[in-house]
Amino acid sequence: MIWSEEELQTYRDKGYVLRRSLLSEAEVKHMKRAMPTLLESSGNDGMHRECERSGAVRQVYLAHRYVEPFSKIVRHPSIIEPVKQIIGNDVYIWHSKLNVKEAFEGTVWLWHQDYGYWMLDGVDASLVSVMIILDKATTNNGCMMVVSGSHKWGRQEHFSDEETTSYKQWCIATKTLKQKLREEQIAQITGQPGDVLFFDCNLVHGSGHNMSPIPRKVFIVAYNSITNIPRPVDKPRPDWVVSRRFDPVKE
Ligand code: SIN
Ligand code: MN
Repeated sequence: MIWSEEELQTYRDKGYVLRRSLLSEAEVKHMKRAMPTLLESSGNDGMHRECERSGAVRQVYLAHRYVEPFSKIVRHPSIIEPVKQIIGNDVYIWHSKLNVKEAFEGTVWLWHQDYGYWMLDGVDASLVSVMIILDKATTNNGCMMVVSGSHKWGRQEHFSDEETTSYKQWCIATKTLKQKLREEQIAQITGQPGDVLFFDCNLVHGSGHNMSPIPRKVFIVAYNSITNIPRPVDKPRPDWVVSRRFDPVKE
């Protein structure tokens, strides 16, 4: 379960590692079977949903607290062992989200670093995100794109874009991107259900519109060191996005 020094070095150099077939077909199937519980709100089920302008679900937060296959997967040894190695400590769950891009309807995620806004939540940049591919991810259905090595840029200034999509997005200014981003650095994270991407909270990433007839769903869990508890800030965000449950994740 634990990574070799070589894999850790790749993570440090590129800011991400993609592990093919890390989860079994059965594990993915188990998560996908629970999908209606996430996508069809039953009112007060504890989860938080964001929708596209079309009304299609865009994101579902907190499935790891309320839906069994998801609470199990966030403790999977093949996920949390390397996360703890990278962070060098026990970890708690910062948040989890199902990112949905329905066929034809799922919209863009502009270039950003997650720490672009997490910094404003009062934590240091020692968080790791894990993205589990649930539907085949292609260049047509808006697979995730990452900028290799961009975590070494350090945190860039972000601004809030409230026009492009239904969801307010913190993103990097085009001027900055023109100066820093080279085409060759962009990696398209295409893959199959069960492939898992580990990435640094300063890695620049984004994704395009789903132009295809197939959906693109991923489940992203962000882990934080148990010693990196948020400091008080002026405008604390809600618990569904900045968790106040700091209990260490155990297998
Ligand atoms: C994100 O940055 O959390 C979203 C990326 C994606 O779903 O493509
Ligand atoms: Mn992100």
